[in-house]
Amino acid sequence: MPASTRARSTVSRRDFARLFAVGGSAALFSSPAWAREAGRAPALPQGVPASEADWAAVRAQFVMPPDLTVMNAANLCPASRPVLEVLTRETRSVDEDPSPMNRARLYPEKEQTRRALAEYLRATPDEIIITRNTSESNNLVSNGLDLGPGDEVIVHADNHPSNLQAWHAKATRYGYTVVVVEQRNPHPGMAYYVDAFTRAMTPRTKVLAFTHLSSTVGDLFPAAELCRVARSRGVLTLVDGAQTFGLLDVDLAAMQPDFYTGSAHKWPCGARECGVLYVRADVQARLWPTIYSAYPGATGFSRSFEGFGQRDEATMIAFREALAFQTTIGRAAIEQRARALAAQLLSGLAGLPGVRVWTTPTPALHAAVVSFVPGTLDAGRLATALYERDRIAITTRGGQDRPGLRVSPHFYNSPAEIDRLLAALGRYLKTGV
Ligand SMILES: Cc1ncc(COP(=O)(O)O)c(C=O)c1O
Repeated sequence: MPASTRARSTVSRRDFARLFAVGGSAALFSSPAWAREAGRAPALPQGVPASEADWAAVRAQFVMPPDLTVMNAANLCPASRPVLEVLTRETRSVDEDPSPMNRARLYPEKEQTRRALAEYLRATPDEIIITRNTSESNNLVSNGLDLGPGDEVIVHADNHPSNLQAWHAKATRYGYTVVVVEQRNPHPGMAYYVDAFTRAMTPRTKVLAFTHLSSTVGDLFPAAELCRVARSRGVLTLVDGAQTFGLLDVDLAAMQPDFYTGSAHKWPCGARECGVLYVRADVQARLWPTIYSAYPGATGFSRSFEGFGQRDEATMIAFREALAFQTTIGRAAIEQRARALAAQLLSGLAGLPGVRVWTTPTPALHAAVVSFVPGTLDAGRLATALYERDRIAITTRGGQDRPGLRVSPHFYNSPAEIDRLLAALGRYLKTGV
């Protein structure tokens, strides 16, 4: 049996402590640089992190150098050491022994990931499809529904291209109509959007496709209420969860969408190129597969829908590890931490002269994505200066529509890092870049 097949179970909190306590990790992390450093990392705190020291121990589970501040979770999150360990171990196992016999053991692993995803999202494994990312998940929905002339699909203007351009392109091909509900800034409130989407619905509406939390300025949408209204009118709902999966404690049993999508490599801090598509049991018969190939899943809808050909099982197993890591830390604590950091940033930005904030400060209407215009400074040059001189990585938003900078902190960031960013912004606003 390859060494890599021996210790495959999910790493528990006790295991974390053992793996990352001084001296405990040498055998597991033999070659990469981050592996050699792992022995110096403190153990995860016992219980839900409560103090800055606890959160520092959580931060130490990531291989980003301590002096590098990355607040770009809306785009890409780092995988934690336990996730990297699983990814490396399982990748290596297949390359050490690519026989069908060794690989066969991985298929049940994929089903375990499906079960973990179902538990995490409060759904059933029969409703979970493991995809490559949110883009693929969204497109599997817009490709798979039978829509044609006379049908209408409602989208929000702030949807990601995979849930906006995709519907427009397929409308050209299949003849249905796309109805766009425009974005409003500042966030006009949940009731406004419930009303705007409801008024856009007609007897011809077949689908409502919106984003749970916008990636542009971080507006939160009333997902459960919109799904409820749509369901009462026989309209299918696609909720793009790229910006909430792994950040908010998402409960699909309460939200009741027909489709929900997400990526492992954003807020869940999983490996890259893995994602999820939830398809509610009673609408599965209405969704055609886009891909017909070998190696489907073994449970529920995945048996007919997930025949995507050969996959990277290591990535899927690492995805499960990422969900376990977050569950170990505490999902409510993660959400609270990210929200608190965003709130600290918003209140600091309010005190900086000339800064125009696009994200509403009302806590119920945002989460942890914050966008703003940095006065008269050039956003691109400022982002470069922050990265090169201050070791702070955030991102720019170009174009005419609410342009500027976007900051998306997560549970591996700290109040001190937010202060550092605010101090640097204040300095550049005074001196220029
Ligand atoms: C709302 C939303 N949907 C979909 C995506 C696409 O995610 P991915 O590139 O992981 O497919 C993004 C990426 O930022 C996003 O913000």
